[in-house]
Amino acid sequence: MSAKPHWWIDTDPGVDDAWAILMMRAAEVNVVGVSVVGGNVGLEHTARNALRLVDLFAAPPPVFAGCAKPMIGGLPDAAFVHGADGFGDALLPPPAATLQQAHGAQALIDASFRQPLNLLALGPLTNIALALMLDPTLPSRCERFVVMGGAVNGQGNTAIPSAEFNIGFDPEAAAMVFSRWPGIELVDWSLTLRAAPGVRDVLNWLSASAPLARWMRAITHKTEAFVREREAGQWAWADPLAAFVALHPDCARYEHFRVRVECGLGAARGQTIVDRVGISGWQDPMVSIVAGIDTSLFHEHMRQALL
Ligand code: BDR
Ligand code: CA
Repeated sequence: MSAKPHWWIDTDPGVDDAWAILMMRAAEVNVVGVSVVGGNVGLEHTARNALRLVDLFAAPPPVFAGCAKPMIGGLPDAAFVHGADGFGDALLPPPAATLQQAHGAQALIDASFRQPLNLLALGPLTNIALALMLDPTLPSRCERFVVMGGAVNGQGNTAIPSAEFNIGFDPEAAAMVFSRWPGIELVDWSLTLRAAPGVRDVLNWLSASAPLARWMRAITHKTEAFVREREAGQWAWADPLAAFVALHPDCARYEHFRVRVECGLGAARGQTIVDRVGISGWQDPMVSIVAGIDTSLFHEHMRQALL
């Protein structure tokens, strides 16, 4: 039996989900399953993209479609960043892998009974919240849970200024998960911006002749145009940063606070509120917020994943 930890990835690919999953592939960790959620674009696209990603694995893990929609309402998707098909409208061939029959939330629960899991969530938390509703004991069978989401300094990246996309897309799901899951490791948008490589570096990595680099180059053209307009020389890579923390927790510095998600319908919907003072009286589980990482090593792992 393999001594490597077993990872389950919940994702809405998305070009940065793609690079994150290539990092998990490069690390040769044991990915035992992938559940897919609607988010960056619709589930029909994110599921197809997840299948394209597992096609790149020597032993493709099973892929399960999950929730297409957030619990209530939802934000506009992020097709303007990732392309209408989530992969830069690069006209990729159809995937060889096919979807499993089970729902992603149920498949995650089932897998957790077969072996202790480590969970990496790269999209809105809809599938995870549903799994928690179906089986509240799920956290007891998960060793680590790394979440890309939130903006712990209140500076988000959506039409609601304080909301980060993954949390803002489904605040009710996120609120449920944060209030019931002990020990979440949170990789947020503010850290993503601080750890962002330069556009020139990223283009340099993408110019490698290796097939994976060329594949990533093809799906990132649209995002590059978006980034060049807005991000002033940096290119923020949220999901790869979460993958890096998943793989190298020893390279991360954590701070421990309680976090709540605003679910009101007003101007702060989807904001992650951090109790740094500690006098709220909140009883929610502590969240391990990643406050710093080894940025050079992160960039090196991004680069190597394409080779
Ligand atoms: C997150 O939102 C999505 O657009 C990205 O894939 C990432 O998971 C960043 O806010
Ligand atoms: Ca994502």
